[in-house]
Amino acid sequence: MARKNTTARAAKSGSNRRSNTMWGGRYKLGPAEIMEKINASIGFDRRLYAQDIAGSVAHCDMLVAQGILTAKDGRDIKRGLAQVKAEIESGKFKFSTKLEDIHFNVEQRLTDIIGPAGGRLHTARSRNDQIALDVRLWVRDTIDKVEAMLQDLQAALIDRADEYSSTIMPGFTHLQTAQPITFGHHLMAYVEMFGRDRSRFADCRARLNESPLGAAALAGSPHPIDPRKTAKALGFDRPMANSLDAVSDRDYVIEFISAASTTAVHLSRLSEEIVIWCSAPFRFIALSDAFTTGSSIMPQKRNPDAAELTRAKVGRIVGAFVALCTILKGLPLTYGKDMQEDKEPLFDAADSLELGIAAMTGMIRDLKASPERMRAVASADYSVATDLADWLVRKVGLPFRQAHHVTGRLVGIAADKGIDLDKLSLEEMQAVEPKIDRSVYRVLTVEASVNARKSLGGTAPANVERAVAEARRRFLGKAGGR
Ligand code: ARG
Repeated sequence: MARKNTTARAAKSGSNRRSNTMWGGRYKLGPAEIMEKINASIGFDRRLYAQDIAGSVAHCDMLVAQGILTAKDGRDIKRGLAQVKAEIESGKFKFSTKLEDIHFNVEQRLTDIIGPAGGRLHTARSRNDQIALDVRLWVRDTIDKVEAMLQDLQAALIDRADEYSSTIMPGFTHLQTAQPITFGHHLMAYVEMFGRDRSRFADCRARLNESPLGAAALAGSPHPIDPRKTAKALGFDRPMANSLDAVSDRDYVIEFISAASTTAVHLSRLSEEIVIWCSAPFRFIALSDAFTTGSSIMPQKRNPDAAELTRAKVGRIVGAFVALCTILKGLPLTYGKDMQEDKEPLFDAADSLELGIAAMTGMIRDLKASPERMRAVASADYSVATDLADWLVRKVGLPFRQAHHVTGRLVGIAADKGIDLDKLSLEEMQAVEPKIDRSVYRVLTVEASVNARKSLGGTAPANVERAVAEARRRFLGKAGGR
């Protein structure tokens, strides 16, 4: 009676399809259309096919080595998996939403190719440890790719810093002209940031490098499996110690997206600077036709779209971070289908990050600085005032606070007259501080200002050249200098 009711209800909801072949035993009916729609992940998790198949090969080898599968079954399974992989890569593979996800799609096709032995592959395994493995492998592969891309971005920045090591520009605080700096020094600041980003990805990689295989559904397996074998075969440091943790842990997704978020913040800050530097009031740099777009109405426009889009990507990436934490919070151990919702944000964050890094690398290689323009702005607005105060400390022996006041008065006089500090006469200066002599003029140029800043990590061209050589060694694995 109860069964009849269920059947009638299912029929009414439009579900009269055959039951899922993967759990056919208990199921008489197929899913409602909307059930299939909300449940299926094959539309996006097909991206995991290579990791899924690599995991299956390792699992199969282990089952054979442990005497759980015959050598013949093992050979057939591996031959079948190789064919499935080739079919997917040639675009011939027919993915089916009815088969829900990448695991079932691969297994069903494997069984079509090699027969019932295909069904033996899933011995001592569950889709729960399988998906945990696939995503782990995918994140690991992606980290390796991102790491190499960040290194390439650093290489571009270091090359340009080398080229512009003595190019003077205004350094800003509050986006107000503060002190003269060198463009090379500014670019090298980002080399440090991306270096820290790389180390965050490396940390994440080291921590994620444990294999969840062998946890099966959640509790482990009664078969005489050897999780150490699969872990080793897949390049993991060790199997995970706790089967419940193995199937429910997605820390590595959170960590990856967290590292991606920090990197995206850095990319966004540099993008914003590029947008500012390209704007008409600044004109510090220009991007070529290759990295700008025109306007459909204003013929004179050159818009830095790539920088704007890279600036915005951070929104999606941080959004993915929030999504992941929100999905996982409050999720009881162990696996919950909620976890399937990790993939789209993860993939989108990774894609956005890779695009942003690649676009930024392109822009850095493409940009052309305008040293005259940068220097002109750097020498305006009394940017060498601190140099004058420092000179008063060193040469006249004034306490810094007093030197600050004397300099302030001199800046006030110059500003009233609408002239630069070095255009004040010696008499005008001595009227404020009698001990000032002619040698003061030597510190009142932007060149003198940057050359003097040789303290560790300072902006002097000589420092930048040294930093460039060191960065090549630290980040690019190259011998210093050129
Ligand atoms: N598609 C699932 C996911 O992405 C795979 C694991 C499904 N496991 C299960 N017991 N339904 O998480």
